[in-house]
Amino acid sequence: MSPVFGDIKANVKRTVELIDKTDADLLVLPELFNTGYQFVDKQELVELAEEIPNGYTCKELYQVAQKKDCFIVAGLAEKDGDNFYNSAVLIGPQGFVGLYRKAHLFYEEKLIFTPGDLPFPVFDIGKAKIGLMVCFDWVFPEVSRILALKGAQIICQPANLVLPFCQRTMVSRSIENRCFSITCNRVGSEKRKEEALKFTGMSQVASPKGEILLQLEEAGEYSKAVTIDPTLAGDKYITKHNHVLADRRTDLFEELLR
Ligand code: ACM
Repeated sequence: MSPVFGDIKANVKRTVELIDKTDADLLVLPELFNTGYQFVDKQELVELAEEIPNGYTCKELYQVAQKKDCFIVAGLAEKDGDNFYNSAVLIGPQGFVGLYRKAHLFYEEKLIFTPGDLPFPVFDIGKAKIGLMVCFDWVFPEVSRILALKGAQIICQPANLVLPFCQRTMVSRSIENRCFSITCNRVGSEKRKEEALKFTGMSQVASPKGEILLQLEEAGEYSKAVTIDPTLAGDKYITKHNHVLADRRTDLFEELLR
């Protein structure tokens, strides 16, 4: 998607139309897909953020998830009382499944959003176990590792990437955790402040063996689907003698907790 900043109704409408045309059990949308990214100040965020799951966008996503019998991961600006989070929701045919609030805020997000206060979540949707992270969480390999330790078979990452590194990094996250990863990155650009932002697109699906199973273009609003077997993420052996989770030398990892 290339959201038009602030036009929630139009952004959600185009997205719902795209979902309607796509046959898939699981769809991942970009970070902040309904609002756009570059808030000029906190007041804009206050005006555009929605309650989860009772806001307009979640209700619309629920309707299309019900109609299409699919699960949807979407990035949204969340309002919770006086706090405003850069969140991801998982919504399915029966309604709201779960929520994650971006823990590692990128750049000027730090000026307006509240850092996430929820654990890195994994949800069992029947056909797969889904872990959620948001965009800049990719810089912190601990996030994918924790999701893998909690049993995620597919890591879903709504993104609004402006740096060029994440897509190739998520291939490594997939290999070292033997998980699938889906990075859905927006396209287009925004210049609502001095600094213009160009989003890098190139959404992708990576396999536990580091194969890029699907890669989208740098531009254009569209969806693509690929068929995977999530149970392949259950095999954590990278060689017959090396289990990527059980072989961790946590006795030597003390610094990670500082
Ligand atoms: C990002 O976290 N939106 C780069």
